[in-house]
Amino acid sequence: MQKRIVVLTGAGISAESGIKTFRDDNGMWKQYRFEEVASPEAWHKHPEVVLDFYNQRRKNVVEAEPNAAHKALVKLEDYFDVKIITQNVDDLHERAGSSDVIHLHGEIRKARSSNDPRLIYPIKGWQLNMGDKGEDGEQLRPHVVWFGEPVPYIEPAMEITREADILLIVGTSLNVYPAASLFQYASKKIPKFYVDPDANAEIQIPNLKIMKEKAGSALPDLVPHLIDNYM
Ligand code: OAD
Repeated sequence: MQKRIVVLTGAGISAESGIKTFRDDNGMWKQYRFEEVASPEAWHKHPEVVLDFYNQRRKNVVEAEPNAAHKALVKLEDYFDVKIITQNVDDLHERAGSSDVIHLHGEIRKARSSNDPRLIYPIKGWQLNMGDKGEDGEQLRPHVVWFGEPVPYIEPAMEITREADILLIVGTSLNVYPAASLFQYASKKIPKFYVDPDANAEIQIPNLKIMKEKAGSALPDLVPHLIDNYM
């Protein structure tokens, strides 16, 4: 049986594709208050502002391309059972070619009924507007997790992480829970790598190698290293 590699990714892996992170110096949450654009209260108060915020983010994602880090992870699939668990709402892992991706915080290129979370639709292009409705006649909202909302796939993500033989953490400040607690479900014994130029210094787990590098330069080297040494 192939060994399992679990890869936990965050905004940093898409930074070199031109998608802003959230908490870096010029990050999204320095520019916007998340309560005003990414919460159920904001949707209630001014849905058009929320839609516009996500339309701009979606346009950015549609125009972006996967970078060397997304592409490097694809190669691992020839040798390992690879599970990507991402906090990102972009689709750059899929467009690079990764086949098994769980989106903890949703997918920006999809919409869903504001009344029935089971009614999910792909968005053509980048705009979702007031008046766009699902088959239930309800206004569509972005298919993303807002602050204060539950994270639907956290249980399967925990199970997958428990079964990891190798863990990679890439480009996340590990600030947002429950995603930030996932790595703790990995076995103490397995090798772990954390790639982030500004890696969260508070993370302390056994067998962790911290690589303070950009994902786009670190992963193309780390991937062959894993194939040569851990298969
Ligand atoms: P953050 O913005 O909190 O953290 C991004 C991390 O990426 C930082 O630790 C940076 O040092 C790192 N980084 C920047 N450039 C990088 C590069 N080229 N290569 C590797 N790492 C790089 O983003 P997340 O941790 O993903 O949630 O944030 C988690 C959640 O907070 C997001 O999913 C979003 C946000 O609020 C929701 O919207 C629900």
